[in-house]
Amino acid sequence: MISNIISGGINGSPFVPGDKSISHRSIIIPSISNGVCEVRNILKSEDVLHTLNAFKAMGVKIEENNNKIIIHGNGLNSLKEPKNDIYLGNSGTSARLLTGLLSSQNFDTILKGDESLSKRPMRRISDPLLKMNANISTTNGTLPICIKGGQLISTNIDLKIPSAQIKSGILLASLNTKGETIITENKVTRDHTEIMLESFGANIKVYNEDGKKILKILGQEELFAKNIDVPNDLSSSAFFIVAALINKNSRIVLKNINNNPTRNGILYALKKMGGKISFFNERSHNNENICDIEVITSNLNGCELGAEIADLMIDEYPILAVAASFANSPSIFRGLKELRVKESNRLELILRNLESCGVNCKSENDDLFIYPETNYNVKNNKIKTEFDHRIAMAFAVMGTRLGPLKIEDSNSINTSFPNFKNELNNLGGKIS
Ligand code: S3P
Repeated sequence: MISNIISGGINGSPFVPGDKSISHRSIIIPSISNGVCEVRNILKSEDVLHTLNAFKAMGVKIEENNNKIIIHGNGLNSLKEPKNDIYLGNSGTSARLLTGLLSSQNFDTILKGDESLSKRPMRRISDPLLKMNANISTTNGTLPICIKGGQLISTNIDLKIPSAQIKSGILLASLNTKGETIITENKVTRDHTEIMLESFGANIKVYNEDGKKILKILGQEELFAKNIDVPNDLSSSAFFIVAALINKNSRIVLKNINNNPTRNGILYALKKMGGKISFFNERSHNNENICDIEVITSNLNGCELGAEIADLMIDEYPILAVAASFANSPSIFRGLKELRVKESNRLELILRNLESCGVNCKSENDDLFIYPETNYNVKNNKIKTEFDHRIAMAFAVMGTRLGPLKIEDSNSINTSFPNFKNELNNLGGKIS
């Protein structure tokens, strides 16, 4: 994919697909609930389809109809042993959440993934589950994972790593486990799982104590399906938001965007940098905050962000780094250790690709420093993505100012936003 410099600005109202995190949960939770669940506006990207196919392989009846699916759930113990190993492609969310869910089923499964997912750390999910007596073996801490399903024991789990995937995997394991599982979260991470479980009638209590979040969930209580409208994905919107901010004569309006406070750090960060971003029609649906967002070309300032905000915008650092490259002063983004274990080592790829674009930047102790200039001389226009969708989309946006940039292995974009190229082109982008 080649992204070219544009002249006329980024304008219009793009179609942003359904939220990826909520889409995964909208398949998993209804599949183990009682009743028929209609899920509207579900994201049909590769990652989510891997979750969908996994549940079909475990005997769940799922009807597909454009961007709506209908799930016929039969309760906590209704899943069937799949005939084959379950292949999850590039999807870390599927891998961590399913490891938890399947560890308390009454059958065995093997989870596999593509080359990139097979390098990602899985002990972070298997270790807390082993504390619950799960029988899980990883391959040197990675996929393939072999799960021997069985009855787990409820216990207290202190989450050492801030990760919604780990928290969600444990919550799903505890649903089918007798007694109360107590999870302590030391840092806030996205809370879509607990929101959906609560609305499906799970016996879950969530409260804050001494600056920590405590989740108490009572197992072996049936869930009851409710229809779901998946809001549009803020992480996918962020690429258009930054494209509009950094290109002259731009104005975009994004509709029906998920504005969950555990996810929206990017909006705080870009507004702190002076981004002209306004919110309209703020509302709540299925207990998720939603709004419309208007974005206008802005003169951005650099900013310093502490580690405490990193978990509220962990997927947005690639595109934030692009925004910071066009600010009028340096930026420091702190506490980015988790970026090293995403779909790629994102911290390294951000640095390497910014350097290729001529941007002066460095990392020290997991902090990222960006020193913007008014003009850049692109040193190497080949952008390395290592099949990471968010690196590919972020540098496509970089190309709207510095193009032509050749984004290597850009097919990875299909994992989260299959129509990204067309949508950016409809707004005035020049991607071929
Ligand atoms: C996700 C959680 C985050 C995020 C990922 C999706 C989820 O990962 O990076 O894209 O849906 O729970 P971690 O939980 O590993 O931080």
